[in-house]
Amino acid sequence: MENNVFVPHSEVEKQLETAKKVRALIGEGKKAYISTFGCQQNEADSERLMGLACLMGYEKTDVMEEASLIIFNTCAIREHAELKALSKAGALRKLKERDKNIVTALCGCMAEQPHRRAQVFKSYPYIDIVFGTDRVHTLPQMVYDRLAGGKTHAVYVSDLRHDEFGVIAEGLPVVRESGYKAWVSIMYGCNNFCTYCVVPYVRGRERSRKSEDILAEIEGLVKAGYKDITLLGQNVNSYKGDLSFPELLRKAASFEGEYWVRFMTSHPKDASRELVDVMAACPNVAPQFHLPMQSGNNRVLDLMNRRYTVEQYMEKAAYIRKMIPDASITSDIICGYPTETEEEFADTVKAVRAVGFDALFTFVYSPRPGTPAAEMEQLPHDVKTARFAALCDAENEKAEELNRRFIGRTLRVLSDGKAEGNFVGRTGHNKIITFTLPEGVDESVAAAGKFVDVKVTEAKAYTLHGNLLK
Ligand code: SAH
Ligand code: SF4
Ligand code: F3S
Repeated sequence: MENNVFVPHSEVEKQLETAKKVRALIGEGKKAYISTFGCQQNEADSERLMGLACLMGYEKTDVMEEASLIIFNTCAIREHAELKALSKAGALRKLKERDKNIVTALCGCMAEQPHRRAQVFKSYPYIDIVFGTDRVHTLPQMVYDRLAGGKTHAVYVSDLRHDEFGVIAEGLPVVRESGYKAWVSIMYGCNNFCTYCVVPYVRGRERSRKSEDILAEIEGLVKAGYKDITLLGQNVNSYKGDLSFPELLRKAASFEGEYWVRFMTSHPKDASRELVDVMAACPNVAPQFHLPMQSGNNRVLDLMNRRYTVEQYMEKAAYIRKMIPDASITSDIICGYPTETEEEFADTVKAVRAVGFDALFTFVYSPRPGTPAAEMEQLPHDVKTARFAALCDAENEKAEELNRRFIGRTLRVLSDGKAEGNFVGRTGHNKIITFTLPEGVDESVAAAGKFVDVKVTEAKAYTLHGNLLK
């Protein structure tokens, strides 16, 4: 089975050849636009789609109206994410009326859901191609078929079924959004089936890239000057190459040069002491741990199929704090899971205060068709949103208190350059920091992609401010 996970090299080669055929068909000066919704996995997929688009002869654009190839890479995690994509996709109609030769595609997690696909077929006749999360590498063939074969309207292409493995295609070109921050997918899919979550259905089973491919990619990025590299997987702890995830992380962080390695996401049931030990021992691993708690109540965690208790979560957080006292720990919480009581929600607020999260991503529970939690009795919308608001208030207070620990300290900052008159960057803890330059210092020292030292003078809940040290 394991071998079937990898797309044969010959198939990838065939796609790259087809890309050249598209290039010959479309002529000069055509542009490609990709709109990305959802998580970093999707952003990473979009960078590969753009890599293929450029190989096909399209030039990257951020203006949809001037593009001849338009791709919507969608997310299905909550209804809100789906509605955003669908409403934006409506704008394609006008563009298509103006020029019927534009190639339009909708892909990503939403495209894997049969009911959404049916909706696209019916209500969006101006979308030419719909393809699933495992068909990224076949973009050249799909675009070629559309252009040469005249196929139009919702040609659906996907192999993914939730009881099957998906695929891994190595050797695709990538056009990255940033010249100094990079996503590196180390694995795809998810086997956890948390009862609220659509990801296992739309991304297929877990499969891991080979460590040699991952490490070669990272080495290339470091050599090319990338400074902030995030290893991606729905649950990086279940990485299954010839190395364990902590071993992979150690190697990823040991190339020559100054850079940070981060990772996400780490499932609390699998986050090991060994992983924390590697983080503590490797200076290149950023002191940031995203450890989604989801709920602070054991009955709710059990219903969610998270397979850890609040006590076990606390123990892991305490071990992180013991080994890396200054680490920033961040989390995700879902408010209003079916049957969650006021008392159970109060447990979550208590747990959030007790751990002290540097940042909290708070979500209103959104029923996902086909998942077990969607079949349960649902809480009223206003109950869910009131809990959401209460949790945000609790976190804002805590985040500001935690940020004050940085006042007076000098932090290494990766600059994002100047925006609206202010220099801005990120710390290793992944905090946003604005900073000023001392008089007479040339602005180029703090150009985007450069590491600088900043002395922190102010702290708010979600931003720091400081002065660059000469
Ligand atoms: N693999 C990651 C999560 C990826 S999804 C993990 O296990 O931590 C990102 C976050 O979206 C989740 O952590 C969860 O908090 C939230 N989420 C997932 N499904 C949701 C749903 N149906 N409604 C609301 N939030 C949801
Ligand atoms: Fe969804 Fe759970 Fe998998 Fe995360 S671990 S992607 S929340 S099923
Ligand atoms: Fe959304 Fe798919 Fe990511 S559902 S959160 S884009 S894995």
